[in-house]
Amino acid sequence: MQKRIQKAFSLKGEIIIPPDKSISHRAIICASLAKGNSIIKNFSTGKDPHSTLNICKNLGVEIEFKTNSELIIKSCGTFNQYSSALDCGNSGTTMRLMAGVLAGQNFNSVLIGDKSLSQRPMKRIIKPLSMMGAKIETNEFKAPLKITGTNLQPINYISELSSAQVKSCVLLAGLNIEGKTTFTEPYVSRNHTEILLKHMGANISTSNTSVSIEKSELSPIDINIFGDISSAAYFIAAGLIVPDSEIILKNVGLNPTRTGILTIAEKMGANIEIIDKKEILGEVVGDLKIKYSELQGTIIEGEIIPQLIDEIPIIAVLATQAKGTTIIKDAQDLRNKESDRISTVVTELKKLGANIQETPDGMIIEGKTELIGNCEIETYHDHRLAMSMFVAGLLCKKEILINGFEWVDISFPEFEKLFETLA
Ligand code: S3P
Repeated sequence: MQKRIQKAFSLKGEIIIPPDKSISHRAIICASLAKGNSIIKNFSTGKDPHSTLNICKNLGVEIEFKTNSELIIKSCGTFNQYSSALDCGNSGTTMRLMAGVLAGQNFNSVLIGDKSLSQRPMKRIIKPLSMMGAKIETNEFKAPLKITGTNLQPINYISELSSAQVKSCVLLAGLNIEGKTTFTEPYVSRNHTEILLKHMGANISTSNTSVSIEKSELSPIDINIFGDISSAAYFIAAGLIVPDSEIILKNVGLNPTRTGILTIAEKMGANIEIIDKKEILGEVVGDLKIKYSELQGTIIEGEIIPQLIDEIPIIAVLATQAKGTTIIKDAQDLRNKESDRISTVVTELKKLGANIQETPDGMIIEGKTELIGNCEIETYHDHRLAMSMFVAGLLCKKEILINGFEWVDISFPEFEKLFETLA
């Protein structure tokens, strides 16, 4: 699908941010592993969480839709073998988390993905799972993953990567093993799995950058999923850089392992106010008031990278409108996302007229630049690139045409409709 984007002159209004994708994946997996009836309200409409949901259904869990976003999950707490391959679609989270769950089952399974997912690295999960005794066959550590279910042993794993997907894979495997499984990462990545498992009664504890888990029975949950800060990020950026804008974003998840974009935007001089902060099931949630701001360049590196890893494409757009130099470092894992986000972000923003250079582990952006547009943009099967370029298009002097805009549906089908309410 092609999408034409024209310059916007002011964005004003209030938006309720749609449900968090990461939490939707975890809620459906953990509810499926809990014996009894769970209720999930405000489940994401994105294609990725629905890939996870369909896999849980195929593994024998009864999932009933009360509305298009409210689910009742009836589970006996165990999975059954599925006769065919389990399709993770475009979703790395589905493949990596489900591999952890399936490696220790008493049956075999095969996880497959689309073209983009089949090119993404799986060694990061196969390494710790193999240390636990898992039997996983692949072609050069890429999907399909052929898993022979077996009894696993606990490990104490020191990860070179700060990755919530790898951490969650190991923790979900550890949930089913006698003894203590520990995962340590360089910096803390998003901790939704830990929070949810604890809430459901798992024997799990954290200390600095380590998490330990022991075999546990989960209790069913009743959860109302709040808004995804990674989806809010496009409205935060648009509100900050489209002149004369003022936007209120309601019900946004503000877990400190996800709020790197707010920390960086504030460092750049952004006018963002957090209102009505509260706690829901161990997670912080609040509303944000965003006003157009004069921004300064900054350096983004180290510990904060996992806290904003999915927001780097839209932060790059923000940086084109900030005075001075913005340097993004230590983000080499961006090359392993739905696209090589260092290369694709730089290539597409250059087409619009941005002054941006690729580095091995990030990018350097000089601002403030007037974006010209008048070109066609590619999305490389990458939802976050599509949405970031949409926001960049709102600033371009001349119209742009985005090819493959349908990829937005992976995480945020409501994206364009919500933007229209602000015009
Ligand atoms: C996710 C973790 C992140 C992120 C992805 C979702 C998750 O990946 O990029 O979009 O839900 O666990 P890594 O933690 O592997 O970097």
